[in-house]
Amino acid sequence: MIARKEKLTDMPAWQALVEQYGKTKESHLRDLFEQDPERSSRMSLEAAGLFLDYSKNRVDDETLLRLVALADAVGLRQAIEDMFSGKPVNETEGRSVLHVALRNRSNTPILVNGEDVMPDVSAVLEKMCGFAEQVRSGEWKGHRGKPIRNVVNIGIGGSDLGPLMAYEALKPYSDRNLNVRFISNVDATHVAETVREMDPDETLFVIASKTFTTQETMTNAATARKWIVDAMGDESAVARHFVAVSTSANEVRAFGIDEANMFEFWEWVGGRYSMCSAIGLTLVAGIGPENFIKMLEGFHAMDRHFAEAPFEANMPVLMGLLGIWYNNFFDAQTHAVLPYDQYMHRFAAHLQQLDMESNGKYIDKQGDRVSYHTGPIIWGEPGTNGQHAFYQLIHQGTKMIPADFIGFCESQNQLGDHHDKLMANMIAQTEALAFGKPAKDVEAEGVTGTLIAHKTFEGNRPTNTIMADRLNPFTLGALTALYEHKVFVQGVIWNIFSFDQWGVQLGKVLASKILAEITAEQEPAMIHDSSTNQLLKRYRAKRK
Ligand code: F6P
Repeated sequence: MIARKEKLTDMPAWQALVEQYGKTKESHLRDLFEQDPERSSRMSLEAAGLFLDYSKNRVDDETLLRLVALADAVGLRQAIEDMFSGKPVNETEGRSVLHVALRNRSNTPILVNGEDVMPDVSAVLEKMCGFAEQVRSGEWKGHRGKPIRNVVNIGIGGSDLGPLMAYEALKPYSDRNLNVRFISNVDATHVAETVREMDPDETLFVIASKTFTTQETMTNAATARKWIVDAMGDESAVARHFVAVSTSANEVRAFGIDEANMFEFWEWVGGRYSMCSAIGLTLVAGIGPENFIKMLEGFHAMDRHFAEAPFEANMPVLMGLLGIWYNNFFDAQTHAVLPYDQYMHRFAAHLQQLDMESNGKYIDKQGDRVSYHTGPIIWGEPGTNGQHAFYQLIHQGTKMIPADFIGFCESQNQLGDHHDKLMANMIAQTEALAFGKPAKDVEAEGVTGTLIAHKTFEGNRPTNTIMADRLNPFTLGALTALYEHKVFVQGVIWNIFSFDQWGVQLGKVLASKILAEITAEQEPAMIHDSSTNQLLKRYRAKRK
């Protein structure tokens, strides 16, 4: 790594933005639009089947220029090249970061330690597709000869959220005869309720875990294993009802899964960036190889756009920079992602891990505490439900909440006028948030007294709008890659390591200590603080 010479906030490019913020912070979108009739067409772009309108952001041309200058000043171009060419940019774990290799549809060589990873990537993809076909066609039989009707993914975090999100988003493309489910929580309710109606003879579990040691996943896997073995009365049934996705052949073998039924991926694939790897096995089974490959093509199209487009016309770069503008200059704490599509109902959940596990860090690459805010809180729900829940705060609350609105021109379910109403709501919200409703318009409606203030909308709430013709495997891939790269851009600017996740370790270690104390025969020595001791004691006394 080339150590950054200057602190981010001391850089002239940063200082130029501080100055620009001082000059423009009061500008209103109403005026910006009035002054420039071409604003929306100038501040829009298309890439990989996605259309982005970023004109409803609190920026003028000069701000955009200065934001792009910041990207140049922090060496973003070099950082992109380093990641795409397999340099070990995940320095704290000494790993390359090559999720882009998983969807490298041009098959150009990508080297890790001098070795091209593409032949292995292609071989695993082929194996996944072949296996998925066997399950979908009924050729893969359970231990007692029945075809598989339930495919159950057991994984957590990146080994759950990406495939789950994509399976839900692409349900119209799935084989509806196959019941695809996901178990993640260590709460027994999740496994119990999932298998309640299932016939073990027709059920296949995909144990998805990069490490194959994650407590939640291994606990759920052991319970599922017992469920199968108890039902069949035969240990050897495991071979036909379990497959594994992991980087660790040893752990998979130790669990009792035949290595032939293991789908490999590699250390250079981060958990939250792994849905295009074998971690997508359940998804391939659900939507079929052809659709999975179309999704990879969408990812790849966005990867190429990110790697090649100039920054001022680069979708992930612009979205990343706009996020910096609000996070670091306007002090916005959160960022909402609001898809106007019911099938996208787990998209924000996936982005939460992607963004918050990547950029939720206060230590910079030199090991110093940063003096500026890093990753925002990501949240969101599908429209229109959010409108009747939390949009009040976005419109009239005291906090700035930049938001991404995501919509599709064609519905997956052409029923009456539902889709026109859905899209009318999405477009209207971005208009209302940007332009608000001035007091004079409220008065003109005959409103008097204090009600005028209550019914006034300041507006000037920033939004991006992303539109695609249709939610399909390709656009979902492009959309997901767009956010992956946006997160990367921001991590580079904040000078933090986006591909490790040390912050999740402490809780894991303490949980295993406390578990031993909960289950100890003898009352354990109460060695924690008084609150933790009290909770532990109370639970020990009352647990069944
Ligand atoms: O929450 C920490 C984490 O390591 C995530 O980064 C990862 O996606 C998840 O746990 C699951 O890990 P594994 O795939 O090794 O079970």
